Amino acid sequence: MNEARFEFGDNWKRYAAHIDETKINESIRGLSTLISPDTIRGCTFLDIGSGSGLHSLAAYRIGAKSIISFDYDANSAECTQAVREKEGSPPNWTVLRGSVLDPEFMSTLSRADIVYSWGVLHHTGQMWEAIRQASRQCAGPGSILCIGIYNRKPVISKLIKGIKFTYVKSPKPVKSIIKWLYWATTILYRLARRKPIVEDIRSYHTKRGMDYWRDLEDWVGGYPFECATAAEIVSFVLPLGFDLIKINPAQSYAGVSEYVFRANAQFRS
Ligand SMILES: C[S@@+](CC[C@H](N)C(=O)[O-])C[C@H]1O[C@@H](n2cnc3c(N)ncnc32)[C@H](O)[C@@H]1O
Repeated sequence: MNEARFEFGDNWKRYAAHIDETKINESIRGLSTLISPDTIRGCTFLDIGSGSGLHSLAAYRIGAKSIISFDYDANSAECTQAVREKEGSPPNWTVLRGSVLDPEFMSTLSRADIVYSWGVLHHTGQMWEAIRQASRQCAGPGSILCIGIYNRKPVISKLIKGIKFTYVKSPKPVKSIIKWLYWATTILYRLARRKPIVEDIRSYHTKRGMDYWRDLEDWVGGYPFECATAAEIVSFVLPLGFDLIKINPAQSYAGVSEYVFRANAQFRS
């Protein structure tokens, strides 16, 4: 794996302490806008790069038949495990530590009706290979592949990559300076565009149950970082044996776009 890495798990551990029913309901709502609850109910669900575990929990609450969640980061996997335990350790929900880029680990996993990987594959250091490996975990024709990938935009995406790389390479005090400079820039940008600030921070949990301050760390530090345009993602995934069902374009300029694909008769795992 790439040497310069953001400690996602540390961030998720701080977030997990604040998971409440409001955030869980927002996560259920977010997942349901991508994949209908009727499709999720009774299916096998694989959450690649589960992070906090909140979205695996959403799949569980909606009624997935079985859930496998895994993450490369030990703290993220621990965090997902803690969320599972808080839910009463359901026997049909398994949490593992592993990498989507590790073929040996991936071969131990059962194939799934829904493969979900939101905001993960672009942080692996080998995004295209990670997308290919994730797609292979689909059980067969009719299975769903749902991925969230950073949208590539001219100039700004390169700048974001540079900021994230500098952040992960810097000592703690410099990290703080970068974080607050970054934050101030986003606030000035919003002020210049006359966009609400306080209200947006307060209502941030409506974005999949996430937390503004934890996501701030993730935006500024989430490295490795890659990104792609919608056209690039679609033209890569369709030949793997999928039809495009839906694209939810990124809500912010170079944010995460969501893609839902369904495996067709050409799909080979
Ligand atoms: C931005 S977080 C997204 C977490 C979660 N999917 C969500 O939507 O909240 C990215 C996660 O991907 C995990 N990750 C990075 N590289 C990975 C890999 N090679 N295999 C599995 N997980 C990985 C990170 O540890 C981190 O928890």
